[in-house]
Amino acid sequence: MKLVVLIPLLLCVMGVYCDMYLHNPRGSNNRLDEAKRERNNGNRLFDSQNNNRGGYNVGSLAYMAGSVLQIEWTNQHSCSDPNSNCEIILQYMCGDLVRDGSTTSTIPEWPSNCAEYDCNQDIEYGMHEPYDHYLNCKLRQRQANLFTADQNLKGNSAKYTRQNPGGTRRGYECPEERDYYPYWGPSPWRDVAILTNDATRCPYYQAESANVKARYACTLPREMIEENMSSRQPIIPITKEECEAIVYPADAQDGTGTRGVWAEVAAHGIAAPDCRESHWSRDNHLGNGIYGQTLSYNWTIPNIDHERCVMRIRYNISTGEYNGWSGNVNASLNKQGNQESTLDVATKYGFANLEAGDDRGYVFENNPEVDVFGNVEGTNNKNFELRLAINTAQLGRTFQDRSHTFAIRKRPADVPATATIRNLNVRGKRGNIVQVYPGVEYDFVPNTIETVPGEYIHIQWTGSNTNPNNNDGQGLPGTDRSNIVMLESPAYAEGGLSYYAPYTKNGQLGRNYPLNLDETTFLGFSRADLQDMAVLSSHQFRGEMSELDDAGTFYDAKPLAVTMTGHYHYMCTRNNNFSNRSQKGRIISKSEPVAYTSIGWTGGQVESQTGVLAFTQGTLDHLEDIKMEEWSPERGHEAVTAKGGADNLPGTYYETNFVVITPVEKFTVGDRKFEVRIKLLESNTDMIGVYRSDPDNLVNWVRMDAKTEGQELVFSVDQGGAYVARGTVSGGFVAGVVIALVVLVVIVGGSVFYFRKNPDKWESMTSSCRGAGGRV
Ligand SMILES: *[C@@H]1O[C@H](CO)[C@@H](O)[C@H](O)[C@H]1NC(C)=O
Ligand SMILES: *[C@@H]1O[C@H](CO)[C@@H](O)[C@H](O)[C@H]1NC(C)=O
Ligand SMILES: *[C@@H]1O[C@H](CO)[C@@H](O)[C@H](O)[C@H]1NC(C)=O
Ligand SMILES: *[C@@H]1O[C@H](CO)[C@@H](O)[C@H](O)[C@H]1NC(C)=O
Ligand SMILES: *[C@@H]1O[C@H](CO)[C@@H](O)[C@H](O)[C@H]1NC(C)=O
Ligand SMILES: *[C@@H]1O[C@H](CO)[C@@H](O)[C@H](O)[C@H]1NC(C)=O
Repeated sequence: MKLVVLIPLLLCVMGVYCDMYLHNPRGSNNRLDEAKRERNNGNRLFDSQNNNRGGYNVGSLAYMAGSVLQIEWTNQHSCSDPNSNCEIILQYMCGDLVRDGSTTSTIPEWPSNCAEYDCNQDIEYGMHEPYDHYLNCKLRQRQANLFTADQNLKGNSAKYTRQNPGGTRRGYECPEERDYYPYWGPSPWRDVAILTNDATRCPYYQAESANVKARYACTLPREMIEENMSSRQPIIPITKEECEAIVYPADAQDGTGTRGVWAEVAAHGIAAPDCRESHWSRDNHLGNGIYGQTLSYNWTIPNIDHERCVMRIRYNISTGEYNGWSGNVNASLNKQGNQESTLDVATKYGFANLEAGDDRGYVFENNPEVDVFGNVEGTNNKNFELRLAINTAQLGRTFQDRSHTFAIRKRPADVPATATIRNLNVRGKRGNIVQVYPGVEYDFVPNTIETVPGEYIHIQWTGSNTNPNNNDGQGLPGTDRSNIVMLESPAYAEGGLSYYAPYTKNGQLGRNYPLNLDETTFLGFSRADLQDMAVLSSHQFRGEMSELDDAGTFYDAKPLAVTMTGHYHYMCTRNNNFSNRSQKGRIISKSEPVAYTSIGWTGGQVESQTGVLAFTQGTLDHLEDIKMEEWSPERGHEAVTAKGGADNLPGTYYETNFVVITPVEKFTVGDRKFEVRIKLLESNTDMIGVYRSDPDNLVNWVRMDAKTEGQELVFSVDQGGAYVARGTVSGGFVAGVVIALVVLVVIVGGSVFYFRKNPDKWESMTSSCRGAGGRV
């Protein structure tokens, strides 16, 4: 008797269970504006391999050049976890013909099916990659040395891959380019970032990126391409020799024919992409990562001006069955005729050789039945076989999502080129958590923003009018609308109001009523701006607006300057429905800058206004979220004094800001250190040294070795902490004046005040705390 037991594997077999979805900017997952839960056409623009229910209806935003956009997504099979190997690749593309289209049908393959025989210009259809990208792909030889396991590829062009053996077309995406990265041929996609389990591959990714490295491709005469458009055999070679050997027409005599041209396709000519470890996420979980934080990447939008761009995110996972990155897993292991793939899944599991494994079903093929015991004790069943749910097209698999189109625009003239602009958007769609899944409910992105006066917040959102009509939500069925209104102040103190110190707390996330906004403010925005955000007045003239129904889906407040500090909490009055749904957010505006940067093996810099932390390659062996705060001497002195540590700091002056770095514990590899550079506040004359303390302690201070380079102090450390430089005489001060004042003030009040020597600097000191070095 032969027993066959089906074991559901953790890994998904059918497309329906696995996925990666882009939530901000709104990922389409091939959806356009369908009024139902499922998208109409999973092949519309690209191959997502995702669940039909994912995606948001079309809607576009316009981001400012150089602004910071928090990209958010969910990925289902973990990253930076040993359970699978993972790469997340973020890219974008801009092009005059890039568009969302107005039909859910896939753009035709044949020009004869497009208006005026020109699919590029037929704007009815959504299009990302241009027509020629696909034409070239389908006529180009596939990379023959790829491992395809036991998949029967239906052809030899680049549209056939292990993951797409039937050569199915999705938009004008090239399946081979989709499945492999870095790709050996030209690609219209520009790389933003690569997040990977194995950051030691980063130098390779960065060198191979099409941002910086040109590719070569074979160009054949257009007539030849057109004559062979429906050829089943690829005609475009992928090597120089084969390319240049082509003569058209084939029977051309005496060198009269045209030859194939093997030519360089220039790199995009932009900086190499960011590359580092990804943050950890668990498998079989389509949600937040560690500490409940959404999986995200902060993208600084490139400094360009383009109305039609689109973002692409890919999620490449491979299992432990084979190492796809070793050159040893290649076409030599593919199925040949009747002989199965010879990928070794036998000796790894304790069999003497491939044949011994084969006898027991340990073969890399679809749904093998393995005999785990050889012989089941107590029975005479020699062949107790367990069937494994293995699809060799998917062991090693890439998911994808893309945004709808968006614009990147020049900053308004009144926003300085160097000012930080932070995008504040709305993610999610109408419905309750079940109805929107695998999308998400409404939320503001980023949910918490940290900023400082002088930065700009660019509030902007869009939505759809065609969500399913029965999805839960307020206002007109099927519609997305949002607004922003500050929340009422707390009725009870949440755990430790000291968290908010020294800033005022405005509103509380636990409240569901907006604040009486008659007299108060929000980050210093004008009353007109607040009113506009609340009732969308600039986008809608009158109408029934209690639930914003008469407004449009798109709202843009333009970048607004932050001029005040404080913790501000706000809500959307329409969508917030306690306890079914909540749409609230928070902006923390501090007087001193805080920089957050994730640094891993690759190294990099954490930069703030007067400090830089520099990590060379290999200083860290894991991804570390590094936070660098700067405290002015005034604030730092207050904190030190409050702890009773002031007497332990030698000298009389603060020569730098306090630079407070977390994590505080040592986080470097072995004896490796990172460099800290802090600007001196004044030209220094009598520096005593740099001192370190635990930021929670501030009593015990230890002197560090440091050197002065120009106007900077430079030292190396292996841990965070509070660092500050002390001096006896500050360069900007006349010692005599100071001593006289000290004596005077000590006599008078017991407190110490220092003044600058230059009267003309006095004004700048009173109007701005930062840079007023030495004042205590
Ligand atoms: C996915 O990983 C495989 C190795 O397992 C690699 O060959 C391929 O290029 C990767 N594809 C992408 C899109 O990252
Ligand atoms: C390409 O087209 C020409 C002219 O129709 C034909 O002779 C040739 O066989 C085609 N090549 C292939 C590889 O199909
Ligand atoms: C993005 O930036 C915000 C604030 O600037 C920070 O809190 C967050 O951790 C950053 N996210 C990542 C993934 O680096
Ligand atoms: C293909 O893999 C085999 C072993 O599996 C290896 O010996 C060979 O060098 C590889 N070929 C290439 C071109 O990488
Ligand atoms: C709040 O949500 C619940 C559940 O979706 C719904 O029944 C109720 O009508 C909503 N409230 C309003 C004012 O729409
Ligand atoms: C909305 O919340 C109320 C109160 O918690 C609950 O009774 C109701 O079932 C929820 N409605 C939906 C549709 O989830």
